[in-house]
Amino acid sequence: MHGKDVTLEGVSITYPNGYTAVQPTDLKVEAGEFFSILGPSGCGKTTILRAVSGFNEPSTGRILIGGEDMAGIGPNARPTALIFQNLALFPLMPVWENVAFGLEARGISKRKRREKAQELLDLVALGDQGEKLPSELSGGQRQRVAIARALAVEPAVLLLDEPLSALDLKLRQHMRAELRAIQKKTGVTFIYITHDQGEALTMSDRIAVMNKGVVEQVGTGDEIYSRPRTAFAASFVGEVNRFDGRVESVANGQAVVTTALGQFRARNPEGMEPGSEAMLFVRPEAMAPLHSENRIEARLVRRDLEGAFLNLFFDAGGTEIAVHVTNDAKAPALVVGDTLALGFAPDAAVVLPAGALARTGQELAAQ
Ligand SMILES: Nc1ncnc2c1ncn2[C@@H]1O[C@H](COP(=O)(O)OP(=O)(O)OP(=O)(O)O)[C@@H](O)[C@H]1O
Ligand SMILES: [Mg+2]
Repeated sequence: MHGKDVTLEGVSITYPNGYTAVQPTDLKVEAGEFFSILGPSGCGKTTILRAVSGFNEPSTGRILIGGEDMAGIGPNARPTALIFQNLALFPLMPVWENVAFGLEARGISKRKRREKAQELLDLVALGDQGEKLPSELSGGQRQRVAIARALAVEPAVLLLDEPLSALDLKLRQHMRAELRAIQKKTGVTFIYITHDQGEALTMSDRIAVMNKGVVEQVGTGDEIYSRPRTAFAASFVGEVNRFDGRVESVANGQAVVTTALGQFRARNPEGMEPGSEAMLFVRPEAMAPLHSENRIEARLVRRDLEGAFLNLFFDAGGTEIAVHVTNDAKAPALVVGDTLALGFAPDAAVVLPAGALARTGQELAAQ
């Protein structure tokens, strides 16, 4: 098996009811890459994936796989395989037949099918489970059968639509490593859809962060976490503190922003101009008690011990500030109610144009 690259050139997708689910998008997924599309529910992830697999056509632009224009080529003729959000195995067929199912239609003999199924079951570490029925497997094992089945037709590109969403947390975390290992072993290009940033960060070579039909940023997990380019990317991936304000002055790639809590200096990668409405973002691990720059007077309101880490929550004039420190001898001996100066290094914070934010877990749970 070997992977192929996937290119989207100006691809937009408008449904027959007139709703544009994907705005014009340019994207290049490299051959053999584990590429994730990360975004909240309804942002257009499945719509993009279905266009790559051929179940719907782009309204504008074109999709190329291995350099070949896919216009007019149906799903079965594309070098892709799709694993759906809710996978379905055939309950009355043994595992090995489930895996080999797609091969029968291609006129491959039973003996060959059996061999191929065994090879793939070995690959997903289910070599001795071929005779069982799907109902005799665990959720994670069934998921691996689905992956083996998708790989049976030797796709160059495997499209995975939230394949772990039905599994419990422990299993999901275990399957991340398994999927990553299978991808590396086969060299097949994986395009993996998820709304779970932890999944995207742990498995992917690169990630596309998507919001409301727009790909806002493409980069490695490190790039997106440490150098977000939009307010949405900064707030969707990882925890972050935000201070709203207006750019006061700019110099040497940095900007000074006036906020309700004072003036703060941070990186200005998007080249914002004085006077513009800005959001300043700082990760909780970049905030420290008693830092000499960008100081904020704050009162400790909660202290959560997480073993190796200490999560501190402060209040500064009605703004909550999260601070994560390692729980070692250097950790400050703080008690709830203490007031002190927090701060952050200008290089560890970023000023971005004010924009749409990701909704927090609390907001989503309140729905
Ligand atoms: N057949 C359709 N006709 C009209 N609108 C649609 C259709 N299918 C999806 N949509 C809309 O397009 C948008 C994107 O849908 P899509 O299924 O791509 O989202 P998603 O990112 O995969 O979300 P989720 O994480 O919930 O699966 C949504 O607003 C959805 O309501
Ligand atoms: Mg979806």
